[in-house]
Formats: sequence, structure tokens, C-alpha cells
Amino acid sequence: MSGKRILSGMQPSGQLHLGNYHGALKNWVTMQSSLDCFFFIADLHSLTTLYQDPQLIKKYSFEVAVDWLSSGLDPEKCTLFVQSAIPEHAELHLILSMMVPVPWLERNPTYKEKQDEVKNIDMSSYGFLGYPVLQTADIVLYKANAVPVGIDQVPHLELSREIIRRFNKLYKKKVFIEPEAEISDVPKLNGIDGRKMSKSYNNAIFLSDSEKNITKKVMSMLTDPSRGRRTDPGDPDVCNLFPMHKIYSPVEMQKEIISACKKAEIGCGDCKQKLADNLLKSMLPKMEKRRNVAAKPKEVYEILRAGTEKARGVAQATLSEAKTAMKII
Ligand code: TRP
Ligand code: SF4
Repeated sequence: MSGKRILSGMQPSGQLHLGNYHGALKNWVTMQSSLDCFFFIADLHSLTTLYQDPQLIKKYSFEVAVDWLSSGLDPEKCTLFVQSAIPEHAELHLILSMMVPVPWLERNPTYKEKQDEVKNIDMSSYGFLGYPVLQTADIVLYKANAVPVGIDQVPHLELSREIIRRFNKLYKKKVFIEPEAEISDVPKLNGIDGRKMSKSYNNAIFLSDSEKNITKKVMSMLTDPSRGRRTDPGDPDVCNLFPMHKIYSPVEMQKEIISACKKAEIGCGDCKQKLADNLLKSMLPKMEKRRNVAAKPKEVYEILRAGTEKARGVAQATLSEAKTAMKII
């Protein structure tokens, strides 16, 4: 195992879907074999949007852990833990918050975007403004060298680096490491309606969906809108379905579809059926594993407990190093 430390987190805001899998999880599963990986459930971050229904966070955290394990994250190879079970995250967040200028946080594009986007929840909280500060605490506690994230998280990572530089300069000691953002090249995966796959758009295919549901969802996917009739030629390049063929169908079949679609020799119904078959073939083993994992909740909680215990040791050591540098202990 190389000495490189990787850390990443996911908010437990619901069941994971194919977008989460291809955008992050798949990459995590690959990394766990060669790097020192810490992955955590960012349940405190979820309170920024679920503070009115906090009881959901526990339920979703379990679902996320089950999705992780059935997708191939292996507690023998990586450390899996729960953010809220390690109070050092909250304590370091508080300490960092004392030295982060509010304008740095107000400038954060995600802060503004999310406030515009989310209409049903009041997102003007103090905690939500400080979201990147908590995220910085998450990262530095484990002295992570690299943080695999989606492109949307890049401004957060840049802010983390600024906060880290400020801390290290103020207390004249390089306690914290500036992490690199490791951006995975995510295949563009849209939901059934053609918008970005997202739980809140109600357009996602979940890892926990049944076989029947997955087929139903694939069959209802939006295709090239110019194929109003079966006899109209289409273009896979503008079709919302085709990126999934690129992931799940053999290259030969992809070629056949491209040519047949352009000549209107294949109907979208048949094309969708082929995708559904290939998608299911790839998902069935994981779906079975998911059922087995979900049937043994005690084992899932034990994995998280053991991972949390290990992670907490690391977090405690870093926090005391930080407080020593500040001369407050
Ligand atoms: N903000 C991340 C997301 O929503 C989740 C997260 C919280 C995170 N803390 C982190 C990711 C630390 C990487 C490192 O996707
Ligand atoms: Fe899309 Fe397939 Fe229909 Fe072509 S045939 S528009 S690729 S679903």
C-alpha cells in the first residue's frame, strides 16, 4: 500500500443511484486496493438540509453503508466511518470557524447556487454557510493527500486549501496538509427525464431498485426527441439513453445501434430493451449482495463501529497537534 492517504465523504441524503455509483463509488472501490483510504458518511453535513427531519439521517446512513458494501467497498481494505460519531470533527470545525473570514464563505458559488435552487427549505443557516469549514475539518483531521470529488466540489476544496494555509501561517507550524482534489472523469449520466440524475428530480435509477422497476425506468427514458415516429432517424449523440449503452453494452452492440438508429432500422423500444438487459446483467450480482448485506444490519453497524474507532484515533492525534500548535493545551 502506498503512503498516500485518500479521504472522501458522502452525505446520507437517500439511497444511492447510478450517478453516485459511476461518479464516485466505483472510483473509491478501485482506489481501496492501492491507497490508504478513509471513506465516511457525512451525516453532520446532511443536517444542513435535513434539520427539519433529522430522524431520516439515521435511516439513510444505513442505506448508504449497505450501498457501499454491496458495491464492493471492503472494510478489510479501507476505513469506513461515521462523521458524527467522531466529535473531533465538530470541535475542529468550531476552532477553524474562528479564523475563517465570512466573505470567503459568502463568495463560495455552491452557497449561492444551492440557496437559489432549494426553495422548500430555508438555507440561510449559519451552519450551511460554514459547510466548507466542516468539510475542511473532515479532510485535515486525517491529513489526506488527495480528496476524490466531483467537479462541483472543486470550489470547496480550494477554500479548504486557503483555510489550511491560514491556519498553518497563524500558528507557524504545518499541522495540516493541503490536499489535492482528485476529479474523477465521470461519464455523463442523465436521469430518465434527460436532466442530471438526482434524487430530488425523481429521475434516478437506484442501486436498491427492483429488477422490475429498473426495466420500467429504462423503458420510460427520454430518447432523441426528433424520433417522433418509429420511421424518423435518430442520433445517439443527442439521445439521453446512449451514454448508458456506452457503459453497459458491448462495443459491437453500440456500433450496431449507432448505425441502425441513424437509419431508423431500430425502434427506441428495442434499443431500450437491450439496455435494460445489459444493465440488469451487470447489476444483478450487486443486487443480490445488497439483499444479503441489508439482511444483516448488525454486521453493517459493526463495520462502521470498528472503522469509526480506528478513524477516531487518527482524528484525536491531529486535533491535539493543532491545539498544541495554537498553545491552547
Ligand atoms: N460535500 C461533499 C458532497 O456533498 C461531502 C463531503 C463532506 C466531503 N465532507 C467531505 C467530500 C470531505 C470530501 C471530503 O459530496
Ligand atoms: Fe436513442 Fe436508441 Fe432510440 Fe437511437 S434508437 S434514439 S440510441 S433509444
